[in-house]
Amino acid sequence: MNLLQQQLRQLYGDNSKHANYQNVPTFVRDALGYQESIDESWRGDTARYAYLLHELKLQPGQTVADIGANTGFFVHSLAHSHPECRFVAYESHPNHVDFIRLVADAFDLSNVAVEDRAVDLAAMDDLPVFDLLIHLNVLHHAGHDFDAGLVSGPQEMEQYAAAYLRQLAGKGSRLVFQIGYNWGGDKSQPIVDPHDQRAMVAWLHGLLPRAGWQIERLAFATRAASGEIVYQNLPASLIDLPPRALQESAALQEALQAYHLEQFKGEFYRRPLVICRSSRETRWLEPTG
Ligand SMILES: C[S@@+](CC[C@H](N)C(=O)[O-])C[C@H]1O[C@@H](n2cnc3c(N)ncnc32)[C@H](O)[C@@H]1O
Repeated sequence: MNLLQQQLRQLYGDNSKHANYQNVPTFVRDALGYQESIDESWRGDTARYAYLLHELKLQPGQTVADIGANTGFFVHSLAHSHPECRFVAYESHPNHVDFIRLVADAFDLSNVAVEDRAVDLAAMDDLPVFDLLIHLNVLHHAGHDFDAGLVSGPQEMEQYAAAYLRQLAGKGSRLVFQIGYNWGGDKSQPIVDPHDQRAMVAWLHGLLPRAGWQIERLAFATRAASGEIVYQNLPASLIDLPPRALQESAALQEALQAYHLEQFKGEFYRRPLVICRSSRETRWLEPTG
């Protein structure tokens, strides 16, 4: 094992709260012969990344922030495949930050910058405006990992999340969002019933538009005939329904059954993956004159 591999492995498995979480990007694995073991039948990045690549269609020159970048699977994979876009990884844990920096340096990813800080409510003003914000599985850690004192239990999450996402809506045109349906990663502190996908969809539908984000796609994981896990969008006709009509919709129930979500061992693949557009987007139109 060479020195770089040794350093990466040490930083990766540091036994911190979010260690052993993400895959090593494919281009890193292929170049170094180094991979970490992730049980993708429980929680993985391959299916999420394939979905994002398919749906996001980044344009040259676009800017992307990955907030809570962990060990950089998404930011590095996207940066490697889109050298003409610019990326900033925001990550609050120092070892994850070092991991991201080591990979960026070793693979000359000059389009990746790393900010070693938490994006909390107080820091939101300093955040530049991006074309795309990636915010996956971070917000339910508020009150634990960041914004201590601003949210002290699951019952306060919705109001806090609305305030946080409203601030974020001034910082990006598009948002990819995923959240755990408990407070701080603690299953005994649910935000909604983690087995009730209808409740998750209704929660997001009640929250995101009021926080300034129009939902464009909402996807759930399922298994393709090949056995591969893939994310599939809910029909657009359902996404467009007002929250009350959506909650009562028999078509939503039927669509959810088609995902066979009970096949997944843990909660992870039951969490919807959402792509939104900021309602304040007109602020980023190019000046005409
Ligand atoms: C549960 S992991 C999710 C990682 C990744 N986004 C994903 O879905 O694969 C949460 C990550 O966000 C980091 N983190 C937590 N709160 C943060 C914040 N407010 N700003 C930036 N990073 C944060 C943690 O250190 C951790 O690496």
